[in-house]
Amino acid sequence: MLEKIKQTADFLKQKISIQPETAIILGSGLGGLGNKITDSVKIKYQDIPNFPVSTVAGHSGQLVFGKLAGKNVVAMQGRFHFYEGYGMKEVTFHVRVMYFLGVKNLIVSNAAGGLNPKFNQGDLMIITDHINFFPEHPLRGKNFEELGTRFPDMGKVYNTEYIKIAEKIANSEGISVQKGVYIGSSGPTLETPSEYKMFRIFGADATGMSTVPEVIVAHHQGMKIFGMSVITNESEPDNPNEETTHEEVQDVAGSVEPKMTRIIEGLIGRM
Ligand code: HPA
Repeated sequence: MLEKIKQTADFLKQKISIQPETAIILGSGLGGLGNKITDSVKIKYQDIPNFPVSTVAGHSGQLVFGKLAGKNVVAMQGRFHFYEGYGMKEVTFHVRVMYFLGVKNLIVSNAAGGLNPKFNQGDLMIITDHINFFPEHPLRGKNFEELGTRFPDMGKVYNTEYIKIAEKIANSEGISVQKGVYIGSSGPTLETPSEYKMFRIFGADATGMSTVPEVIVAHHQGMKIFGMSVITNESEPDNPNEETTHEEVQDVAGSVEPKMTRIIEGLIGRM
């Protein structure tokens, strides 16, 4: 595994002339930020050795290296999901590769269902913490000490400094943001009314099918992490007639994406 990661990182290093400081993972319908990157070098996943290929609509599947807010970045347009059938090592492979490219900050974004009754469709939520509800763990198996410790402390995963900066930027731009806990589970089914209720009782504010494995691996490697969810649908466990479709999730994410991008751009400029 480690050999494959290094091989992929070496391949990418030959293609780029910059050293990215920050990686941004763009979730469903949130790929727009990638188009704001200047001096860009785009590399399709299918052309990258050892990379899985994303199979979901709305995930175009490429890395975009270049400049954003004056900083060297790499954006991932499209991620890999556990529900696609990949194992946890594949779902987080890119985060390992980023480490060997010298990336220090990871920004993650996702589309999520709102659990907190105060949240509305189209809200942005800064992730303050997460609950790992996946049936598999990305760090299970042999630990490579050169990457990180066997038993990572998870007390401070989401960087509080970055959260403060992001809130300030949102404030000054007149963008309202929520803050809360993201729970990640396997999917691909959305939750039953009882599962939505259970997640709320757990203490989660938003639910989705990604992010948590990537964040665990990034944290294991000592990266600084910032995460944002777009609330694409409200869970209404007492009103199960409100159906949620993938199209709706993508549409809402796409319409909120410019606001999220402004916050992320501002944050990168101040990192
Ligand atoms: N549940 C899980 N994942 C999601 C949802 C949801 O309601 N909305 C967008 N991604």
